[in-house]
Amino acid sequence: MGKETINVAIDGPSGAGKSTMARLLAQQLQFVYVDTGAMYRAIGLFAQRAGLKEENIHRLEGMLCGISIDIRYEGGFQQIFLNGENVSERIRTEEISRYASLVSALPPVRQFLLGLQRRLAEENDVVMDGRDIGTVILPQAQVKIFLTATAEERARRRHRELLEKGEQISYEQVYQDLLRRDEKDTTRAAAPLRPAEDAVLFNSTEYNLEETLCELKKIIREKTGHAV
Ligand code: DC
Repeated sequence: MGKETINVAIDGPSGAGKSTMARLLAQQLQFVYVDTGAMYRAIGLFAQRAGLKEENIHRLEGMLCGISIDIRYEGGFQQIFLNGENVSERIRTEEISRYASLVSALPPVRQFLLGLQRRLAEENDVVMDGRDIGTVILPQAQVKIFLTATAEERARRRHRELLEKGEQISYEQVYQDLLRRDEKDTTRAAAPLRPAEDAVLFNSTEYNLEETLCELKKIIREKTGHAV
C-alpha cells in the first residue's frame, strides 16, 4: 500500500472562485491542482468539433473511445490535452462552457473521467475542484469545501474575466448563461451539484480574494493540521 494522500475537494457553482482558490491553495500547500471542469470543457470542445448539438449530444457516448484526456504540469500550471493537443486556452470561451455543461450531464462521460480523477488523487496530494468531488469522486477527502457566492456576484466576476480576455459579451448575457448553467448543473440526474453532508460551506460574496483565501486556509488547517 502506498502512503495515504491528502485530498482537498472544492465544489460549488460556476464563478464562485473555485479555480482561483484551488490553484492558490495548491501552490501554497505544494499539492497538485486538478481542475476537473477543464476535463469536461475539453470533452465539450471535442463534441463541438464533431458537430454535435444539444438535440444529439447523446451520440457522444459512442465516440468516447476516440477521446483521450491528459493533464500535464508546466511551470506549476495545469495544461489539458485532448488527443495530444494542448487545448488549455481554447476551452475558455462561453460556447465551450455551454458544451461542457451539456456533456457533463451524460453519465458515460462522468464515468469516463472518474477513473482519471481518482487516480490523480490516489497518487498525489491534491486540491481538486469541480461539482461532485466531495460527493462522488473523493467521498473520503479529508477536507471538503463548498464555495458559493450570489449569482449576480458570480456573473460580475465572470464578465470581468471574459472582457479581460477580449470576449465581446454583455453582463446580461453572462448572467443569463450562468443561471441556465446553474439550473442544468443542479437539476441533472447524474451527480447534480450539491454540498456533501460533511462539507464546510463558505459564501464568498462579501469577501475579496485575499480574505477568501485566508478563510479557506483556516478550514484546511483545522481539518488536516497541515501548516498553510
Ligand atoms: O468549472 P467549469 O466552469 O470549468 O466547469 C465546466 C462545466 O463542467 C460546468 O457546466 C459544470 C461541469 N462540471 C461537472 O459537471 N463536474 C465537475 N466535476 C466539473 C465541472
